[in-house]
Amino acid sequence: MLIDHYHTVRQHSLRLAAPLSDEDCGAQSMPDASPVKWHLAHTTWFFETFILESMEEGFAPFHPAFRVLFNSYYNGVGEKHPRAQRGLLTRPGMAQVRAYRANVDARIARLLAGELAREARERLTMLLALGLEHEQQHQELLLTDVKHLLAQSALFPAYWEGTFAPAQQLALPTAWLAFDGGLAQIGHAGDGFCFDNELPRHPQYVAPFELATALVTNGEFLAFIEAGGYRTAHLWLAEGWDWVRSQQLQCPLYWQVDDAGHWQEFTLSGLQPLDPALPATHLSLFEADAYAHWAGARLPTEGEWELAAQGVEVEVGRLHPAAGTPGAGLRQMFGHCWQWTSSSYAPYPGYRTAPGALGEYNGKFMLNQYVLRGSSCATPAGHARASYRNFFPAGARWQFSGIRLARQVE
Ligand SMILES: [Fe+2]
Repeated sequence: MLIDHYHTVRQHSLRLAAPLSDEDCGAQSMPDASPVKWHLAHTTWFFETFILESMEEGFAPFHPAFRVLFNSYYNGVGEKHPRAQRGLLTRPGMAQVRAYRANVDARIARLLAGELAREARERLTMLLALGLEHEQQHQELLLTDVKHLLAQSALFPAYWEGTFAPAQQLALPTAWLAFDGGLAQIGHAGDGFCFDNELPRHPQYVAPFELATALVTNGEFLAFIEAGGYRTAHLWLAEGWDWVRSQQLQCPLYWQVDDAGHWQEFTLSGLQPLDPALPATHLSLFEADAYAHWAGARLPTEGEWELAAQGVEVEVGRLHPAAGTPGAGLRQMFGHCWQWTSSSYAPYPGYRTAPGALGEYNGKFMLNQYVLRGSSCATPAGHARASYRNFFPAGARWQFSGIRLARQVE
């Protein structure tokens, strides 16, 4: 039942916020990251604005100012509270945001249970599916934004008090899997949900290539650092070299050296010794590309990645990427780290945006960003698929982004 799915997804957002204090939920660590409270309210705003406003009889907003406060980027809806100032919203408090969620949930349930003409019901079903997928995207952002926030404190607080996979497992040697290539069908197929940017499915020629069966590990990335990777200009894209130099970067985000000279990594479970067997994560496209260059390989194109991923089972991860398991075939395609590709985020041939403000969902961001494929340890269950296109600017590294190498067939 759609209503059951609705409540399951909505409750999951609250569960993700449960380990956090109200103070945790209100803070914003950088313009790219939003407070948890804002995520909880904005996902609710999405249902209120795009469904209730047009479909509920006698619609009245929960609070008229919320239309502006929790509008992310929809110019078609109107004014927006500035993105970099979301952390200044001490009001509404968490209690009022929870009440907002409960109010909208009850109204959505009422609308869904009521009489609707066939066309209206079809539209409601489509909008609810989009709203729930949207909420799942924010569930992932909620976790990566919280991680960035908690990392700002010398207390290095844990979001989750448990421990991840045992440290110091044996890393798997890099193995390669060959693909014949050819004329591949790329893009979403079938009746299931997809975002507009995964359409239309279209033919794309892919030359024969090889893909690494596992993600680049911390141990392998450490070898790049120790070989002077961050100080070697010719490995980097020009903009990447400027980025490294201007920020004086020497390692991935969340890595640091303790007083005894040992590498540590901040995780959602606090500061941990760096485990060489785990995938290297929180890397920018610049770092991924420089590493690939140093390793004598390259990043895959999104077409290559999707061709390889078709038919691979989707894994669901758990707050931190895990070590690869032995065995044949591709590992860690889903559920560990998003994988940078060398493909610019651009429309597929024949791409069309939806009419109205919802047309702003994806299409207007198709400039100066790169595609990442797969899913991460923070991606909620049921949200990943082979045709999914995530995208970020080349310097972004607060997502769980890692490296899968590709190379030409000799
Ligand atoms: Fe959003």
